[in-house]
Amino acid sequence: MRLAGKTAIITGGASGIGYAAVKRFLSEGAKVVIADYNEAAGSQALQQLEVDDEERVLFIQVDVSNPESVERMIEAVVSTFGGIDILINNAGITQDAMLTKMSIDQWKSVIGVNLNGVFYCTRFAAPYMVQQGKGKIINTSSIVGVQGNIGQTNYAATKAGVIGMTKTWARELGFKGICVNAVAPGYIHTSMVDKVPEKVLEKMVEKVPLRRLGTPEEIANAYLFLASDESDYINGATIEINGGLSI
Ligand code: CAA
Ligand code: NAI
Repeated sequence: MRLAGKTAIITGGASGIGYAAVKRFLSEGAKVVIADYNEAAGSQALQQLEVDDEERVLFIQVDVSNPESVERMIEAVVSTFGGIDILINNAGITQDAMLTKMSIDQWKSVIGVNLNGVFYCTRFAAPYMVQQGKGKIINTSSIVGVQGNIGQTNYAATKAGVIGMTKTWARELGFKGICVNAVAPGYIHTSMVDKVPEKVLEKMVEKVPLRRLGTPEEIANAYLFLASDESDYINGATIEINGGLSI
């Protein structure tokens, strides 16, 4: 039980990588909040979970791109579980288009969720961690934030921004007992990757030394390590998990 008694918020926890993390964290004894925009996916996730103690898992509907909604979610978590030990800023979206075709709405919506959302959740959760003198914040970046990618101006900007915020918060919060790290996955088999045209995805997989997509569980394992006491001296790092694609 590597997270016994800890309270973890997992944004975007209703599907994909976030849902794999919800299952993993519950199996390690954490109290888990699925903080997701999608109510239907949230209640389906709750139904599918096999938890010995149902009071250990909670779904809260939140739009991370909306600061009022985030503040309400954080307050609800604190009043239910008494504090926040772990924040996983995992919610994210894509709206891919070539630069010359990208609409202002596509730009704004991705910035709103992937960049503003990470700031809002951390802005409202961190004071509770500072009060406790302990905490773990894990931000989800991407290989695209490090290398850029055709058709992803908006997404690349957010995922590079997440690495910048991670390093800044590691400096600001480290001496208050809080570790802040990022995970930068390569291509992981979730609904996000299902939207990539087949030809483009095939070419991408050919470049991966392991010649396959990653699984949501393989990213959830890294979240778990960074959320547990085993990583207590890791701060400000970005862990790349991509089957060797970035070599
Ligand atoms: N590598 C090489 N060539 C590419 C390419 C790529 N990654 N993406 C597009 N192209 C090429 C196309 O093959 C095409 O070439 P031709 O003109 O010779 O046919 C040209 O660029 C234009 O592409 P489209 O015809 O597809 O143009 P479009 O305007 O219809 O669509 C697009 C553009 C929306 C960007 C579409 O190409 C696309 O969805 N590409 C994939 C983008 C991508 O990789 N997204 C990753 C999502 S997963 C994720 O984001 C998770 C993560 O963190 C890794
Ligand atoms: P997914 O699409 O399966 O899950 C994303 C979840 O976020 C969904 O449950 C969705 O409802 C939720 N969400 C979307 N907008 C939200 C909002 N405004 N407020 C609250 N919740 C919202 O995607 P996946 O693949 O699991 O992605 C998780 C994270 O991993 C994202 O940040 C993504 O950018 C990142 N990532 C994914 C990679 C991949 O290949 N799948 C690669 C690198 C990074």
